[in-house]
Amino acid sequence: MVAPLPPHIQQEFQERGFSRRQIGRIGLVLGAGAVMAGMPWHRSRADTLPLGGVYPAGAILLNGNEFWTGPFPSALPAGQKALLNGNRYLTGKERQALVEAVATYDHIGPELVTPWPGSSDPLCRTVISFCSPTQGLVTSNPTYETVWGVAEWLQIPLTRVPLRPDNGYKTDVRAMLKADPHAGMYYICSPNNPTGTVTPLADIAWLARNIPEKAVLVVDEAYLHFSNAASAVSLLGSCRNLVVLRTFSKLFGMAGLRLGLSIAHPHLHDRMMRYDGIYQTTMLSVPAVSIGTDSLKDQSEIAKRRSETRQNRQVMQECLSHYGVRTVPSDANMLMADWRTAPGPIVKTFAQNNVIIGRSWDIWPTCSRITVGSASDVQVFCKAMEQVASLIK
Ligand SMILES: Cc1ncc(COP(=O)(O)O)c(C=O)c1O
Repeated sequence: MVAPLPPHIQQEFQERGFSRRQIGRIGLVLGAGAVMAGMPWHRSRADTLPLGGVYPAGAILLNGNEFWTGPFPSALPAGQKALLNGNRYLTGKERQALVEAVATYDHIGPELVTPWPGSSDPLCRTVISFCSPTQGLVTSNPTYETVWGVAEWLQIPLTRVPLRPDNGYKTDVRAMLKADPHAGMYYICSPNNPTGTVTPLADIAWLARNIPEKAVLVVDEAYLHFSNAASAVSLLGSCRNLVVLRTFSKLFGMAGLRLGLSIAHPHLHDRMMRYDGIYQTTMLSVPAVSIGTDSLKDQSEIAKRRSETRQNRQVMQECLSHYGVRTVPSDANMLMADWRTAPGPIVKTFAQNNVIIGRSWDIWPTCSRITVGSASDVQVFCKAMEQVASLIK
């Protein structure tokens, strides 16, 4: 059960043009940001699973863009120590250590960094904080759909700009601005989920400098560490309208531990904190915070995981290409494979061979997103491709 929004916050939303019904729904989004599963806009992994939503025992999971193994070994002692002290709430000390580790890693001031239990909460929160019934949301298509779900649920105008082959499926920032020059929020996922394509920093900077004065640009860098691309945090010095999101759920192997970050100027964080934000950012899991802090100090493990992912991705891509399946050139831990036919029977055949592949996006109904697994996962995937081959056009 979610408590209603306090009257002064309800009034703020009313002044921004939200109806009473929409305000009720906002309360639900904010209350649920940290526990996405079960929300009306959220498609959980179970929704997209073949074979009745149950994993076969020992299945190779290539459907959730998780890393194939757990947290960094170098960070486990800190996590173990935190577990043994699990009777205690988080203190400012552990949280501050994480903030400082991020600041050192990214060469930014600690005042820009806010930790969260994963990045889903701040992601949902940005739509609520910066959009309204008259100031919409603009994204590319396909991209990570959580923000679409929130916008649709709250009846916020949503504009999706298709990715195109003629520019390498890169986010077209100029087309995004043209599609809705008066939006409240522009969202770029870079590298993009599900294509793995990177938006050049110069394009991100261009968009940040050209969006309306009151709008924000949210750059979701959930997959940044798989790529050598520069982070949009380097633009924070000159762009005060930028929110960069990160998560420890991918390369850092901590999806189940729940830790994420938003990096932005304090005036934007203040707006994102309007309801329960302070609670969410201070009630973090202590083992997650401790493991995240030490992981950021282990540059060699970051580089190792990035390089292994690239090697495994190349093997997967070559295997798909051997069977005539085209993929979008990716700089992340996923490949978008075009079967040129409805993926249903292919997904099912993979599952019968113990391999669970990912979902499709409506705009590209013949494609499936496949997460890059370990070297041995990729071997199993390639073996399963022998069975799938007869289904491919
Ligand atoms: C692009 C992107 N952003 C955000 C998230 C949310 O991740 P989490 O809440 O685990 O940090 C995901 C998860 O798949 C994602 O792909």
